[in-house]
Amino acid sequence: MLKSFTALFGAVFFLATPLRADDGGVLVLGGTGQLGSEIVKDLVEAGEDVTVFVRPTSKRERLAGLIIAYKVGDILSDADMERVFTSATYRAVIDASGQAFGGDQNYYEKSQRVISKWALAGNVGHIILHGATGAGDSAHMMVMENVPEFQRISIASKSVAEDVLKASGVPYTVIRHMTLLPLENKESGNARLTTSQMAIGAMTRDGLARLTMECLDNSACINMTFHAVDDDVELTGRYTGMWKRYRTVIKPYVFEAREAGGRLE
Ligand SMILES: NC(=O)c1ccc[n+]([C@@H]2O[C@H](COP(=O)([O-])OP(=O)(O)OC[C@H]3O[C@@H](n4cnc5c(N)ncnc54)[C@H](OP(=O)(O)O)[C@@H]3O)[C@@H](O)[C@H]2O)c1
Repeated sequence: MLKSFTALFGAVFFLATPLRADDGGVLVLGGTGQLGSEIVKDLVEAGEDVTVFVRPTSKRERLAGLIIAYKVGDILSDADMERVFTSATYRAVIDASGQAFGGDQNYYEKSQRVISKWALAGNVGHIILHGATGAGDSAHMMVMENVPEFQRISIASKSVAEDVLKASGVPYTVIRHMTLLPLENKESGNARLTTSQMAIGAMTRDGLARLTMECLDNSACINMTFHAVDDDVELTGRYTGMWKRYRTVIKPYVFEAREAGGRLE
């Protein structure tokens, strides 16, 4: 469900100017995925004209029954991305795609190079990229040597992807997150975006979809990098040990700041 704009940034800021153009739908990359499918559902509920880019092998079950258009190809294919962005006009692109299991370790940077190049050529008005905490200028908070190698490589690739997008000339929003909870976990209602690089914790995919929607056509999100966190979400199963693990991969000063001042903004 879409909720009020005020929940988006909590008390941090808010005076939005609508950016919405009169035409052009929304293209979702990774729309068959766990996060992407939640975003697609919210877009459809909001009455958007939605196109989902899928691979020939993508399972579409999560999107069953939704009135959406599909384009088929591979995000890493320059020719496929050219075709997608030159055959239709999109006012916004949401990139919720993720490196396939066993797929190219440099997926994020490689994909963003083709996405942002062809999005610029196609006059896309806004790309919202889902990223990872620890990427870009938030790297300082991580004890990288304790992060498992596959995650370290993925975070490094997401850093490059952020840089590629920011340099592309396409208006952007980067939404970084740390731990994504399983689809069955639902947000507390207090999920928020913050410009603090030190906000840490878990997010649900439904909460992330809501916050993504609230950044769409929102001038307050343009050329901004946010961290998404849901301080009040319930942790279940193996995620109950999440904070213990954070102690090994996140610098002590992040915890000190939390303990001294309550939750970090
Ligand atoms: N899981 C976490 O804890 C966590 C933490 C921080 C950030 N993130 C980030 O959040 C985002 C969403 O994660 P998720 O777990 O919800 O994703 P997911 O379920 O793994 O979905 C990934 C999506 O990307 C698509 N995809 C992958 N390679 C593609 C390609 N070459 N061409 C076209 N589509 C391709 C997949 O298509 P198919 O259906 O064909 O496979 C799928 O729709 C990712 O960027 C992830 O890195 C996740």
